[in-house]
Formats: sequence, structure tokens, C-alpha cells
Amino acid sequence: MSLEMRGIARKLRMAMVGGGPGSFIGPIHRIAAELDGQIELVAGAFSSDARRSLEAATRYGIAPSRAYPDYEALLERERCRPDSADLIAIVTPNHLHFPVAAAALQRGYHVISDKPATATLEEAEALANLVAESEGLYALTYTYTGYPMIRQARAMCAAGELGRIRKVVVEYVQGWLSQPVEASDQKQAAWRTDPGRAGIGGCIGDIGVHAFNLVEFVTGERISKLCADLSAIVDGRRLDDDCNLLVRLSGGAPGVIHTTQIAAGERNGLAICVFGEKGSLSWAQENPNVLNVSWPDRPVQTFHAGATYLAASAAGASRLPPGHPEGYLEAFANLYRDFAAAIRARETGNSEGCELVNDIAVGVRSMRFVEVAVAASREGRGWVTIS
Ligand SMILES: NC(=O)c1ccc[n+]([C@@H]2O[C@H](COP(=O)([O-])OP(=O)(O)OC[C@H]3O[C@@H](n4cnc5c(N)ncnc54)[C@H](O)[C@@H]3O)[C@@H](O)[C@H]2O)c1
Repeated sequence: MSLEMRGIARKLRMAMVGGGPGSFIGPIHRIAAELDGQIELVAGAFSSDARRSLEAATRYGIAPSRAYPDYEALLERERCRPDSADLIAIVTPNHLHFPVAAAALQRGYHVISDKPATATLEEAEALANLVAESEGLYALTYTYTGYPMIRQARAMCAAGELGRIRKVVVEYVQGWLSQPVEASDQKQAAWRTDPGRAGIGGCIGDIGVHAFNLVEFVTGERISKLCADLSAIVDGRRLDDDCNLLVRLSGGAPGVIHTTQIAAGERNGLAICVFGEKGSLSWAQENPNVLNVSWPDRPVQTFHAGATYLAASAAGASRLPPGHPEGYLEAFANLYRDFAAAIRARETGNSEGCELVNDIAVGVRSMRFVEVAVAASREGRGWVTIS
């Protein structure tokens, strides 16, 4: 008797495109997807090389018959099986996000894709149309929206605890592209600095979109205008590796987004500060279980992940009591748990947690941000409205 017939929700079955040997984010997706026992990885086209796809499947404990040589074979052959994959995780370089997501949605699979949604705005808009027509759901893995303290920050802004927002500052500082490592055998750098595989944005498409998304996710406002100065600092690089942007929020507040990948020695320094009329909050990804809120008339308040006093969305995103470090993997797992809830909500009607899923509208907005910023910087246009 199947689990469904006994009234027990079975695990959702996931297939992965990308995530082959030596890749960065594919293995993170697998761990995150499986962390809560809601999803299992059952198949994949893990590489453009069939032998390496098989090698990855062996490592993941997947039957060789479900290690496919390419994504078309995966999507076609899986749907003929009684135990077909339900959702497709896309963890390839950016230029494949659109064709894989489009093909999967057209066949009715659910899709969870890493960012950026696509390589161009045009593709993102086309994908939005496909999502609207498909039986399948779509989600983007904007990792940082899965952190408990980011959800706490969002809840506090939404409740008006900081008062009207006056200013936002996000910095995202990395150093791993401070030398022309793409010229050596650094595969991650090679495709990220190649417009054919990364899209029109370098740093702006790789980590600038995280900063953009974080501003909108935490404040609940939209970035309505920007003034961008993007540079390729490393000699010979064809895409930007350093981005400085002034922005305006829909509520009128000014903001600063500064992202770079050439800050020699820096690691993954993402941080956000929101300054409101009544108080100011700050969070840093390298110390993610703490959220500090400063008030003019009392001592700084420090919130800890896992504590009992958190907003429901933040408490639900913590798995451990305070003082037990949680981090990147758990934040990623929260995105998968929310998406699993959204898929199950179609049958159960219980949509708790689903509202935090980053959908295709978020993807389109972030691709519009990339396109506007790249064009505005290149043409020295000054302030430009993001429609
Ligand atoms: N959410 C985040 O914080 C985050 C972090 C890192 C990367 N990413 C995104 O994840 C994606 C992958 O990044 P990465 O750093 O893991 O890259 P990577 O180069 O480490 O891995 C890419 C994988 O895709 C595979 N691949 C390439 N072409 C393929 C094809 N035609 N069919 C199947 N597999 C194919 C490669 O073999 C490799 O295994 C990118 O879009 C990137 O922007 C997101």
C-alpha cells in the first residue's frame, strides 16, 4: 500500500540539474532539501558530461538508471515512471536556468532554481508567463531569506517597530575574484566572468541580486530608483566585479548597495543595516544568529536565533535552542521546507509558511534590477527608475 493510500504524506521526489563533482551549490541543495525529511533526491542530470553525471549519482546513492546524460532525457524519462520526480532543482550556471526551468514547467514539474532566475530580463519575463500557465510551482533560492534573524528583521519592519524607514545600507564583500583566477582552472570563476554563461551581470548578477533581494525582503518596500557605478577592476575581465549603487525605496528612503568580489582576503561579508525613525537594526551573515537593534533611549537589544521571544516566522526558521549555531545549510533548508509546504498546500489547503517563498515575480524584479543597473552604469545615465 502506498504512503498516500495510508493517508501519510510521502516524501517529495527531487531531481537535480547541475551539482556534479566539484560543484559548489548542488551538494548544498541536496543536504538542505533532505534535512527535514520532506524531500529526497532520486535522480539527476548532474553534469553536461554523462560520465560525471553517473559519478555524482553514485556519490549521492542514486540508482545508475536515474543518472541522466542531459536534462531533456531526465525530464522526458522521469515522467514515464510511476515514481517520477515531483520537483526539479536547477543548480547549473546561469545561462541554463531558463531553458531547464521552461522545459520542466511545460511538463508540469515544480521547479526550484538557484539565482539569478535567468540570464536576461527577457527570459525572466518569458518564464513568468510559463509559470502562470504551468501546473508546476516555481521558487528561487535567495539563501539569506532563510535565516531566522533575517525573518525577525522583516517581521520587525512589517510591524513598524523601527518606525518609518529612513535609510538602508547593504554591503556584500567577497575577495575570491580579486585575481584573474578565471584564467587558471577555476571553473566557478570561468563561467561567472563569461557573459555567455553568466548573463549581462558579473558581480551584480552573482551577489548584487542577493543584496537587492535582501533590501526588499527585510523592509517590505521596493527599490524604485537607482544610480549605478559598476566596474571591472581586474584587468581583462569582461563583466563587472565591483558595484556601487545609490538606491531609493518606494517609501522615499535613500539606500546604498555596495557589492564587490575583488576585496582581497574577504570571504562572504554580507551585512544589512536598516535605520528607522524609532530605531535601527543590523545583521551580518558571518555571525548570522544575532540581530542587533539600537534604540535612542535604551541599551542595544540583541536577538538570538532559537529564542522564545522571536516573531513566529523567525521562531519557525530556527531548529535549535539559542547558543547552538545554525547557519547556511539550515537557512537553505528553510527555503526547501517552505517550498515543500507550498507544494503540499495545493492538496491540503494549509499554506502556512508559503508566503515567504521567493516566486517568479521576485525573479523578474531582480533581473530588472540587473539590467537597469548594467545599462545605467555603462551609459552614465545617473538616476534611473526601475519600473
Ligand atoms: N544561493 C546562493 O547563495 C548561491 C551560491 C552559489 C551559487 N549559486 C548559483 O548556483 C548556480 C551554480 O553555481 P555553482 O557555484 O554551484 O557553480 P559550479 O560551477 O560549481 O557548478 C555548476 C554545475 O552545473 C553543471 N552543469 C553545467 N552544464 C550543465 C548541463 N548542461 N547539464 C547539467 N549540468 C550542468 C556543472 O557540471 C557543475 O556541476 C549558479 O546559478 C549560481 O549563481 C547560488
